[in-house]
Amino acid sequence: MKKVLVIGATSAIAERCARLWAARGDALYLVARNDERLQNIAGDLKIRGAAQAYGYCMDLNDVDSHAGMLEAAEAAMAGIDIVLIAHGTLSNQKACERSVEETLYEIKTNALSTISLLTNIANRFEAKQAGTIAVISSVAGDRGRAGNYVYGSAKAMVTAFTSGLRQRLNKSNVAVVTFKPGFVDTPMTASFKKGLLWAKPAAVAAKIVQGIDKKKDEVYVPTFWWVVKTIIQIIPSKVFSKLTL
Ligand SMILES: NC(=O)c1ccc[n+]([C@@H]2O[C@H](COP(=O)([O-])OP(=O)(O)OC[C@H]3O[C@@H](n4cnc5c(N)ncnc54)[C@H](OP(=O)(O)O)[C@@H]3O)[C@@H](O)[C@H]2O)c1
Repeated sequence: MKKVLVIGATSAIAERCARLWAARGDALYLVARNDERLQNIAGDLKIRGAAQAYGYCMDLNDVDSHAGMLEAAEAAMAGIDIVLIAHGTLSNQKACERSVEETLYEIKTNALSTISLLTNIANRFEAKQAGTIAVISSVAGDRGRAGNYVYGSAKAMVTAFTSGLRQRLNKSNVAVVTFKPGFVDTPMTASFKKGLLWAKPAAVAAKIVQGIDKKKDEVYVPTFWWVVKTIIQIIPSKVFSKLTL
């Protein structure tokens, strides 16, 4: 039985991951800011087979409370084997362009809060020389685009941070897995027109749980996004600047 901490547990992708762990009989500690949804999900996961399913309500932008939340999770489950960090918001790019405050808030939600969590968790796992840390970043972080560069640059920070953390923790038996989904049909993208490139949360969750089991490094979800990002990355800047993507 694994002890899994799911941060941003009301995310559609995270909930699907938690269902897979529940079906295995793992213990789950769920962190999210909507208490009613959190309690409903915890109850559902117990029915699905979770050994335990605790709920912890907090706004993850309250970084000063991260250490206390981690202590509570460790105490409740008598340790943590796996952490999945899944919270995020799809920034309103136009609103960010008009407001420094909005831009910095989005960077806090999508990057700085995650970096605070990673720093706290890394030190705990490094001390016990064990554990797997998984983070949902995004293909949007691979190259900034006019349409979503605030969100994209926050995800780029998360991707670069986890790359360095992976190197640091390699000698401590701690795995750091970075997931880069493309378009996923979740509440975050509810207003978007869906098409061929879109994936369902259950399929993305299956790849995430598998990637964590295999202690992979960076995983594009679905895999074809690796090809898409490679094409996008080789476009020269002079050409890229003139494109509308
Ligand atoms: N959907 C996509 O196309 C896509 C693509 C690439 C990467 N991702 C990433 O995948 C992850 C999961 O997103 P999703 O697609 O599953 O979307 P989602 O269902 O909208 O989940 C996002 C979750 O983040 C939570 N959250 C946001 N800010 C928070 C805060 N300050 N404190 C606590 N919780 C907060 C939201 O809680 P509330 O419900 O309470 O607001 C929500 O549960 C995110 O990191 C996202 O950036 C998504």
